[in-house]
Amino acid sequence: KLPIIIDCDPGVDDAIALLLALASPELEVRAITTVAGNVPGERTLDNGRRVVALSGRTEVPVHAGCVGPLLGPVMRGKYSGAGGLGGTLLPEATVPLAAGHAVDVLTAELSAAAAAGKPITLCTLGPLTNVAVALARDPSLVRGIAQVVCMAGAFVAGGNRTPTAEFNVLADPHAAEIVFRSGAPIVLAPLDVTFQALATPARVAALRGMGGRITQLAAELITFYDRNDPARYGEPGGPLHDPCVIAYLLKPDLFGFREANVSVELTQGLCYGQTVGDFFNTTDRPRNAKVLSKLDAQGFFDLLWERLASY
Ligand code: BDR
Ligand code: CA
Repeated sequence: KLPIIIDCDPGVDDAIALLLALASPELEVRAITTVAGNVPGERTLDNGRRVVALSGRTEVPVHAGCVGPLLGPVMRGKYSGAGGLGGTLLPEATVPLAAGHAVDVLTAELSAAAAAGKPITLCTLGPLTNVAVALARDPSLVRGIAQVVCMAGAFVAGGNRTPTAEFNVLADPHAAEIVFRSGAPIVLAPLDVTFQALATPARVAALRGMGGRITQLAAELITFYDRNDPARYGEPGGPLHDPCVIAYLLKPDLFGFREANVSVELTQGLCYGQTVGDFFNTTDRPRNAKVLSKLDAQGFFDLLWERLASY
């Protein structure tokens, strides 16, 4: 099994990503850590605990993490509703809050992984604050990281919170830059690829037609989250950004990618928080990231719906 830690800010698409991961026997989810993002930290934490309770995987610990960015203004998501999980609230039953701050848990897990020679894959579905703080405190933790697979950034697609910036990067651009420069292998699922994971009405109807304990609730969540902005996405429906990270771990062949140096614009101005990819080696900056660019959307939804229906 692939050992992973999921750092997230649930959020509807984070919730779907967690449900995908927790239903996947290929993955060993060692911990879930939460961070402020879509909604304030106490809400992302509560939402994370609700999702784990819903999944029945109550042995998976959920740890509270950073409640604000390293620098810069606090940003919140636009599309997840005030509570972060739309109008469709998950059952209140939660798993207990696990002891230990997210940064300490990342530190302990990554040091142990480095010592054992069994590096862990980090999946980041929100602002990168927790991972950046852990790496700033102890850069040698990078030896315990197999790769960091991040829903982060935007290239040709343009941004979703400014003309050039994607939310998870814009919400803590300095943290993103720390992680991208850390030396850990980085895989980015930017908007360019996540916009292709479009939960169209036909796809959501297919989910509703499937059996299982949580398919109807998942369909409700996804429908609430529906952006319905065909001018942007080509068709009606909302993009399921964060599940792309988990799908990449399960079936990397669903994705095409390009390698590049990726860094973050930290100068205050029009392009603050933009991810800048040097795809054609116009600088001497070393390649540090695989940037996912293409998605087999049918294969993605077949996988996601099958796993959601398996509950
Ligand atoms: C990202 O921002 C959040 O609102 C979503 O959960 C996703 O992680 C998309 O820009
Ligand atoms: Ca998220």
